[in-house]
Amino acid sequence: MIQKRTIGIVGAGHVGVAAAYAIFMAGLCRDLIVVDQDRRRAEGEAMDLMHAQAFARRVQVRAGSYRDLSPAQVVIVTAGAASRAGESRLALLARNLEVFRTIVRELDRHCREAVLIIASNPVDLMTHFCQRQTRRAASQVIGTGTMLDTARLRALLGAYYEVDPRSIHAYIIGEHGDSEVPLWSTAHIGGTPLEGHALFGKAFNRADMDRLFTAVRTSAYEIIARKGYTSSAIGLTIARLTAAVLNDENSVLPVSRKLVGEYGISDICLSIPSIVGFRGVHNALLPQLSPKEYEGLVRSADILKKHFSEIRESS
Ligand SMILES: NC(=O)c1ccc[n+]([C@@H]2O[C@H](COP(=O)([O-])OP(=O)(O)OC[C@H]3O[C@@H](n4cnc5c(N)ncnc54)[C@H](O)[C@@H]3O)[C@@H](O)[C@H]2O)c1
Repeated sequence: MIQKRTIGIVGAGHVGVAAAYAIFMAGLCRDLIVVDQDRRRAEGEAMDLMHAQAFARRVQVRAGSYRDLSPAQVVIVTAGAASRAGESRLALLARNLEVFRTIVRELDRHCREAVLIIASNPVDLMTHFCQRQTRRAASQVIGTGTMLDTARLRALLGAYYEVDPRSIHAYIIGEHGDSEVPLWSTAHIGGTPLEGHALFGKAFNRADMDRLFTAVRTSAYEIIARKGYTSSAIGLTIARLTAAVLNDENSVLPVSRKLVGEYGISDICLSIPSIVGFRGVHNALLPQLSPKEYEGLVRSADILKKHFSEIRESS
């Protein structure tokens, strides 16, 4: 029997809706079920998308409960508490963990087999927490991690070199956040390394690259300062990751995953290039890092571990 593809989205806010829109337009599934604590909001978003069916694919979108997620192969989690005035980051994190505790319990009860894609921030810590709470295999919990940051870097490099960003191979690894690490030493276009080469008349210029990376690292702040939130690019990032799972693509994507000794790092989730297919995230690729890149990755892991233990102490 052909199994109908079902995708669940928990959290019908800006990010959840952008992901739903991208999934809907790409026709990735037959059933798309949106769960939100604000049921009417989820209903409104589902109705709004359904009215565009004549211009897209036959994807049935509806608001539902956790119970309705039982046939889902993939469930995307974008739910999160928003900051209260005067609330510290750690206090917000502690509240978000409580939200996640309930969500993971419900997902374990109703869709144990599904691969979970976590987008809520801080995404590495949320993915790590989810890994610890859930009864499913570690490979079935994937954080969007630095996929978005990597896409942003490729877009900027594409504009810089005037090349299709899809033809640019350059990764950002580590935390999805301030301590993330750009891998210049392995970045290439068409097999030609960026470092030490002139491409299309442009020599590799460290100052220009630093400027591009700073623009990537600060882009969420810049967008939020202007429109209040980020949604479009993360929505497409989630759809791309979902497609890699559902189509069993075995694509190489920089996603947040549990490290078990890679680069000497264990027991924390962060991003390194990894194979993503139907069973979730498996084999990690371990590109050779320069000493500075390696140092940056270890620092990133230490920062995440410190935050995780602080949250646990404060909750
Ligand atoms: N990973 C990334 O690259 C990335 C990029 C952008 C945003 N984000 C993160 O995505 C998350 C969502 O952002 P947003 O702008 O959509 O926020 P939002 O406030 O617009 O939406 C959050 C939604 O979650 C729902 N929700 C809260 N608690 C819930 C619960 N217990 N069960 C079900 N639904 C619940 C709310 O009702 C709301 O609809 C945030 O944590 C944000 O930081 C991540």
